[in-house]
Amino acid sequence: MKTYNLESTISHNLQRNITYRKSTIADAEQIVKWRNQENIYKWFINRRTITLQEHINWFNNNVLNEKVIQFIFSADEKDIGVFSFGELNYIDKNCEYEIYIGEQDFFGKGIGTLVTKSALKIAFNELNMHKVYLRVYSENIGAVKAYRNSGFTVEGVLKEQVFINNKYFDIIMMSVINEV
Ligand SMILES: CC(C)(COP(=O)(O)OP(=O)(O)OC[C@H]1O[C@@H](n2cnc3c(N)ncnc32)[C@H](O)[C@@H]1OP(=O)(O)O)[C@@H](O)C(=O)NCCC(=O)NCCS
Repeated sequence: MKTYNLESTISHNLQRNITYRKSTIADAEQIVKWRNQENIYKWFINRRTITLQEHINWFNNNVLNEKVIQFIFSADEKDIGVFSFGELNYIDKNCEYEIYIGEQDFFGKGIGTLVTKSALKIAFNELNMHKVYLRVYSENIGAVKAYRNSGFTVEGVLKEQVFINNKYFDIIMMSVINEV
């Protein structure tokens, strides 16, 4: 059983105290409420709302089984979002990163960048990953910027990968490699 620093304060120059911790089943309702907002799930590859029961099943099958490591992050002790590592591959040492801020008042304040930088430290220093990658819609300008700010670079573009309302959208693959 791997252990991680479960709770930590992210050092930063924002006027807020940003912390993170591992999610638990007690966060289920909050997570479902956040991720069922249209401006959140529209950016997911799987663009749909979920029920509380679906989330609980997913949590039991993935988080409790250690297929996904999921964290809640907070600003001044208010929970505001989720980041996670999935597709954990301890042989090739890579994983897929996801993040969303569920509380919209906290968008565009540098928190996504800050949390992502901290997440990379967890992935490299604690999970011993060599590479962290992600998928993002090319239209999601703010997310791409936050990822670039955090050190991600573009690996390639999956052209016209997703079909929504009679239109195809590109997905950008981004990654960071731990050079040490
Ligand atoms: C993606 C997300 C985590 C980024 O977090 P954030 O705290 O809002 O991002 P940051 O403030 O750190 O950085 C975003 C940057 O993009 C800029 N930006 C945001 N929206 C923009 C837009 N529509 N066009 C241009 N720039 C934009 C911000 O001004 C900021 O720029 P700066 O670094 O020069 O200040 C957050 O916006 C979010 O949860 N979005 C909804 C869910 C989502 O898209 N998740 C990612 C799926 S891949």
